[in-house]
Amino acid sequence: MSRVSEIMTSMEYGPSVEDSSAVRDWLASRGQFGHFIGGDFTKPADCFASRDPSTGEVLAELSQGSAEDVAEAVKAARKAQPKWAKLSGTDRARHLYALARHIQKRERFLSVLETLDNGKPIRESRDIDIPLVARHFYHHAGWAELRDERFPGHAPLGVCAQIIPWNFPLLMLAWKIAPALAAGNTVVLKPAEYTSLTALAFAEICREVGLPEGVVNIVTGDGKTGAAMVAAEVDKIAFTGSTEVGRAIAAQTAGTGRKLTLELGGKSPFIVMDDADLDAAVEGVVDSIWFNQGQVCCAGSRILVAESVAARFETLLTARMQRLRLGAPLDKSTDIGAIVDPVQKDRVLSICKAATDAGAELVGGQPGEGCFIAPGYLKNIAPANPGMEQEIFGPIATLSTFRTADEAVELANNTRYGLAGSVWSESATVATDIAARIKAGVLWINCANMFDAAAPFGGYRESGFGREGGAAGMLDYLAEPAVKVVKEPAPKPVRLMDDVTGKGHGIDRTAKLYIGGAQKRPDGGANYTVPGGLAPLANRKDMRNAVEAATKSGKWAAMGGHARAQVLYYIAENLAARADDFQRLTSKAEIDTAIARAFHYAAWADKFDGANVQAKPGHLVNVLPEPYGVMAIACPNAQPLAAFMSLVLPAIAMGNSTVVIGAQDDPLALAELYQVFDTSDLPGGVVNILTGAKDELAQTAAAHDAVAAMWYVGSRDGLTRIEQAAGGNLKPVWSPAHRDWTKHDAQGELFLRHATRTKTIWLPYGA
Ligand code: NAI
Repeated sequence: MSRVSEIMTSMEYGPSVEDSSAVRDWLASRGQFGHFIGGDFTKPADCFASRDPSTGEVLAELSQGSAEDVAEAVKAARKAQPKWAKLSGTDRARHLYALARHIQKRERFLSVLETLDNGKPIRESRDIDIPLVARHFYHHAGWAELRDERFPGHAPLGVCAQIIPWNFPLLMLAWKIAPALAAGNTVVLKPAEYTSLTALAFAEICREVGLPEGVVNIVTGDGKTGAAMVAAEVDKIAFTGSTEVGRAIAAQTAGTGRKLTLELGGKSPFIVMDDADLDAAVEGVVDSIWFNQGQVCCAGSRILVAESVAARFETLLTARMQRLRLGAPLDKSTDIGAIVDPVQKDRVLSICKAATDAGAELVGGQPGEGCFIAPGYLKNIAPANPGMEQEIFGPIATLSTFRTADEAVELANNTRYGLAGSVWSESATVATDIAARIKAGVLWINCANMFDAAAPFGGYRESGFGREGGAAGMLDYLAEPAVKVVKEPAPKPVRLMDDVTGKGHGIDRTAKLYIGGAQKRPDGGANYTVPGGLAPLANRKDMRNAVEAATKSGKWAAMGGHARAQVLYYIAENLAARADDFQRLTSKAEIDTAIARAFHYAAWADKFDGANVQAKPGHLVNVLPEPYGVMAIACPNAQPLAAFMSLVLPAIAMGNSTVVIGAQDDPLALAELYQVFDTSDLPGGVVNILTGAKDELAQTAAAHDAVAAMWYVGSRDGLTRIEQAAGGNLKPVWSPAHRDWTKHDAQGELFLRHATRTKTIWLPYGA
């Protein structure tokens, strides 16, 4: 034990270990845990050990959930759901407030339990995780109260299966359970096998506050239990974890009609511009990649620093890194605790080894005894190095340089992920410009890893889809307002016509494809017969050409809503002027609809706003609807013109470029649109129109990496195949119900919402 006078000389920290006796007493009194089903704990069975990763000590025994356990839990949730949904918003809110309050009352207990179970420093569980858990329940109590006012016509989904990871165990539980309950759903949640204890303590809190039985059910177990949940009779699956498992879940749920949200991995850029406050940026790295031992999906794991300040930045960074204290998680002065499990430690070390084998240099990052790895970073690392491409999910960043802002953006976006990013610059102009150009769901300007229940969180691309937090998060737990569904006529088999002129067949028209603003013959030269003429039979190559043309028309998004509105008004006017030409091919109702849709979405083009949400004081937190980029749209096989305009116009109004597969059986009215588009100043490539075998073409689009989102109206079988193909790069697929496309419910905000994804930009202020 050092004497005070010695400490005053060395200024070393002494041990300051948080008392864990209350938690240990609780664990000892429970010993073995069953599942929490229907308001009660089941008898423990098929147990496995849950350990403190910092010491290897067994903390408790958990039950491995079987498919039967999952089925029981789903049954309990199903039974409880109608009654829970029928409670008034205020009554549901009261339960959520009670959960929030009881969590707050037990902040210390839960923080210690979390730290023991996960290995994260007590400073983090006490100051970040648990306060955010309480905040999440408070915030969503408000949503329970306001649900019907704010989301009229929306209903709860039913029973939600929720699978969470081990990096923020109780916080991820809160992110999942609070919005689900606020919306009127009931849940079956599976915590990660390494870190189930706070979920089980939460189950006890549910009982304590008198939450109705079966509203929250918790089943413990590993990936097999998770797979059983995905296969169970549930209405929604919400998953946070690895991209690999997320992709498997997407494939498994394809065509089931279940709602799916995925929060997956990341390799987020951390960009330091030459005018950044370098000391602040170094602190940002600490919060980014050395927070929670780097086991953070949105960790700023790729540090990109302007070449002119790189040397100075690295000096500051290494000095700071060396002062980080690695040690006992329960010690209040520990900065870096234990990795969650030996399996994860091995995974981190193996990626580091692959990175150094491929030529990178590792600074720090040495493994310690047990589950500890010192903070570190990889330098001199090539873009294709595995350490640069793979999510390390440990306290190891990469460090590389750039010369210009454009290069920084290019490097930042050179990843299959798109979860988050952090930008450091003293110039608001530079920082916001870069934040806007990074393709990711959450951007932090001059800050990192900020979270709040009001600020939507979620990814682009292979980081998944769906949002947690705020209004966007609520919508992912609600069913869209019901519409009158009309059965769609199945397309007839495509009948080839070799004679492209159609002479002698009584056919008077041969339409073309519309790609890149020009009429194009189909690649294979084939046409098929449709009422009134021949339609071009597009193949995969045409689809690829159309996607390429759409990709090149990126300026459309940059034009802004006002300019896009003008084009859409122009389309409305030109359609009206050419109504007679259309009359030969389609009904008056469809022509009127087409014109009405153009006016409607022209009006919306500059009004589908984002929000400045009330997250933390002193921060501007902007939630912006961003276009996806290239969207593929497979139209229904009925009301060709009305359906086409109802689907395509909202997509382009928001700034997307589209690749559209027209009604298979009767697409000729669409050929009349080419001239309307050409004369309305619609830039080439914004709308590309293909005709032919819809499901085949749609599958090619769904599998195409450059297509960021897909809308499909068609058969259940077709949708299954589309969703399977889309799982490759995890693009979201929306399948609006087939309806009478001339009716009012075929337009509106719902379509705009599906044509955009939210990007949350955090900007702290204060002189
Ligand atoms: P994981 O994705 O296997 O585990 C996450 C959750 O999914 C756990 O509850 C697990 O039991 C469950 N699960 C596993 N297989 C499943 C299946 N087939 N069906 C349904 N549920 C299943 O992640 P893991 O193996 O623990 O970590 C591996 C890597 O994943 C990490 O190194 C990291 O790169 C990444 N990861 C990312 C997270 C994030 O927040 N984005 C969180 C955890 C891990």
